[in-house]
Amino acid sequence: MEKETKKVTAAENAAGKTAAKEVYNKRFEKHMDELRWLYMELYDNSSMYAELCDNLHRFYEERNDDLKAIDQLREASPDWYKKNDMLGMMFYIDNFAGNMKGVESKLDYLEKSNVNYIHLMPFLDTVEGRSDGGYAVADFRKVQEKLGTMEDLESLTAACHKKNMNVCMDFVMNHTSEDHEWAKKARQGDGEYMSRYFFYEDYSIPAEYEKTVPQVFPTTAPGNFTWLPDAEHFVLTSFYPYQWDLNYKNPRVFNEMMYNFLFLANKGIDIIRIDAVPYIWKELYTQCRNLPQVHTIVRMMRMISEIVCPSVLLLGEVVMEPEKVVPYFGTVEKPECHMLYNVTTMATTWHTVATRDVKLLKQQLDVVNGLPKEYVFLNYLRCHDDIGWGLDYPSLAKDGMYERPHKQYLNDYFQGYAGDSTSRGELYNADPVTGDARFCATTASMCGIEKAGFEQDEEAMEKAIQKDVMLHAYMFMQSGIPVLYSGDEIGQVNDYSYKEDPHKAEDSRYIHRGAMNWELAENITDANTVEGKVFQRLDQLEKIRKSERAFVSNADTWTIETWDSSILCIGRYYEGEKIIGLFNFSEHDKTAWINETDGEYEDMISGNKMEARGVNIPAFGFYYLKKEF
Ligand code: GLC
Repeated sequence: MEKETKKVTAAENAAGKTAAKEVYNKRFEKHMDELRWLYMELYDNSSMYAELCDNLHRFYEERNDDLKAIDQLREASPDWYKKNDMLGMMFYIDNFAGNMKGVESKLDYLEKSNVNYIHLMPFLDTVEGRSDGGYAVADFRKVQEKLGTMEDLESLTAACHKKNMNVCMDFVMNHTSEDHEWAKKARQGDGEYMSRYFFYEDYSIPAEYEKTVPQVFPTTAPGNFTWLPDAEHFVLTSFYPYQWDLNYKNPRVFNEMMYNFLFLANKGIDIIRIDAVPYIWKELYTQCRNLPQVHTIVRMMRMISEIVCPSVLLLGEVVMEPEKVVPYFGTVEKPECHMLYNVTTMATTWHTVATRDVKLLKQQLDVVNGLPKEYVFLNYLRCHDDIGWGLDYPSLAKDGMYERPHKQYLNDYFQGYAGDSTSRGELYNADPVTGDARFCATTASMCGIEKAGFEQDEEAMEKAIQKDVMLHAYMFMQSGIPVLYSGDEIGQVNDYSYKEDPHKAEDSRYIHRGAMNWELAENITDANTVEGKVFQRLDQLEKIRKSERAFVSNADTWTIETWDSSILCIGRYYEGEKIIGLFNFSEHDKTAWINETDGEYEDMISGNKMEARGVNIPAFGFYYLKKEF
């Protein structure tokens, strides 16, 4: 009897293995020709290609059954992330809950916040003081000790999956930390490792690069090269001097980084945020941004993930103007990233807050709404980085707003200097040469919650909360996936304590990366507190967004003229449901002169019935109006 059971199990086992192999082969065969073609075009190295293929299979075999089950489910419905049920939240693990285990213990809070996608900010090994918020990775296979272990990560992702929550992490592939073992060996003069970076004996070639390559951190880390006195070489460092750019011309770099990517995917990561993706290929006499080879690499990555771990999504970090962002989606036949940040819309939103003029925002939304519906954007009001004023200046110039003075105005406004501004925050990387500067603050501080709280001005606080909630309501109205920065759900303000930490003091982005205030978070059930007001009102909006089909990513979306310069109107339609969003960006009560003649609507916030014609909207107020056909 016993023997027989064993026999069956062995047979089943063998059948399971054959089935798994078939699944793998099918995926591999789908991409084989293109993958080989692109690899050989870039590297012309068939033995390295063969090594890559062997390893893809090895990572597939190592992937656990739970993840393989998710792969199959998502493969069967590839549009699973294009609905209206996703809400993201990003946070630094230590700031949010101390460590990985702490995050696991806070999953209920995240669920209560309607969050089903968490972005764990960089948590891989890095050296304190030379970490750039974790974006200088010293070991891609080790979790920072203070945050936990790889086992903790696996346990966290498994716990998230039980709650249908997705986990996102950064894959910082443009550079390693100077503390990475490759960098250490390169520094000691090992040619094999030097060839994984860009090393130069003297400044002649770096000088040529500097003629065309812009600077990322002109104030905190000027120049693109760093002199290493001990190694007597210059090394390319587009970001901080301790972040050494990897040389993707070397196939060893590509292969090893793909293995790191798959290693992390196999820990249960659902969304890989490809950090600084436009920078990963360098050519002399170019800007070293968005070169065609970057697209080859991202396309190969997409195929590799579809072969080994098809449930994993690629989120590209392309902080550039729309024309440069969109190509990272690839084409319908040859897709690259699944999702991209809607960065220009984010920056244009704050321009609208400062000018109370929706003209440019409407124009920007029209551009985004005109793109193919397959494209999924990640929408946000702010993230862990600064807000760069990448606006459509040629359009603004037609209205007499010129780049330099306008940037100056925006920075003055949000620092709270311009007349009636209630915002608080700080400049970032003010460049004395170009006069350029970016801006840092939390959403709540930019909306006036910090100022009103400090001045204990209740009326101003109500207005500030109203503005904050209206901006979220508008952001939720956009197609794609909304992502909040942790703390924004309770209106958390700027944290100035970074100035006392010598490792952070130079970098004002830490002003909006403060620790989650759990004491204040206890107020979320008390509607008389700032936290309760923000949380409960966002909660209502989030629930509406998840339950109404007109919010699906591929709904028809358009803007409607309101004949008032401060009121934005967005329409959405999907399968017999129409929703109209009205958003008043000014501190005055206004009327939206819209004239939708299709009858009565329901105000989704109050439940009242009303016409969508000549709608009065209080200062910083908004409406979600619904109609079913
Ligand atoms: C990305 C990150 C940013 C970091 C940079 C360098 O832009 O968002 O925080 O400084 O990459 O890795």
